Amino acid sequence: MHEKGCGETPRHIAIIMDGNGRWARERLRGRSEGHAEGVNSVHSITKAASDLGVKYLTLYAFSTENWNRPAAEVDTLMHLIGSAIRKETPELVTNNVHINLLGDIDRLPAEVHADLEAGRKATEHCDGLNLNLCLSYSSRWELTEAVRRIAAEAKEGTLAPEDIDEQTIDSHLATAGMPDPDLLIRTGGELRISNFLLWQIAYSELYFTPVLWPDFGPSHLIDAIDVFRNRERRFGKTSEQVKNESIL
Ligand code: IPE
Ligand code: IPE
Ligand code: MG
Repeated sequence: MHEKGCGETPRHIAIIMDGNGRWARERLRGRSEGHAEGVNSVHSITKAASDLGVKYLTLYAFSTENWNRPAAEVDTLMHLIGSAIRKETPELVTNNVHINLLGDIDRLPAEVHADLEAGRKATEHCDGLNLNLCLSYSSRWELTEAVRRIAAEAKEGTLAPEDIDEQTIDSHLATAGMPDPDLLIRTGGELRISNFLLWQIAYSELYFTPVLWPDFGPSHLIDAIDVFRNRERRFGKTSEQVKNESIL
């Protein structure tokens, strides 16, 4: 183990799965083929995370902004999401994976919504890996919803404004009750967050890789975890403080 690093496996990994379109273009194939290939990476990375003992895996699958893509591409993505969840649910149950849906799920087509809901229900009893699927999700959407509900509670008189603290905000997010991501991975080479988990990644370790999502396999996940293990997470303290704490 590197002397500086925490050496631990991240409890919560969040991934911005980017690069499907470029993967397809490099092969002179249509963007939908890139998305179909991306589903295979979701399968192998979920299995790998579960095997590695990760407790939460949060996947950014479709953003609020992605609704602005050409209608045919949105349609393809919706069909892929529906068919993938139908196909994968039995194995997820076998592997004890618990599905959570994060985002404005009501905006999805009714059949896809029903497929996702069926998958969620079927894995409700599972207590292994928590697989958070972010669909029609954006962080500003999530924060706006949270503010709306907090304001409603204040208006009803069940919450006093002076009692609002960070915990109040946390508990009104889609990730309520979950630890913040320890590690945020973005594939596909872009160096941006694209409206993902803005509140929750306040102290996450960031890992950007040029590897396109359809090419991202378990060995790449292990590489990212190794980098994470060698980072020193200081949370505002000095290196000396952190080292002394780890001895105790
Ligand atoms: C990520 O791949 C999948 C979604 C955003 C739904 P992209 O489709 O964004 O792939 P690139 O960025 O065009 O390569
Ligand atoms: C981010 O990818 C959203 C998902 C991975 C679902 P995009 O490809 O939509 O991101 P931008 O728009 O290039 O930042
Ligand atoms: Mg992209």
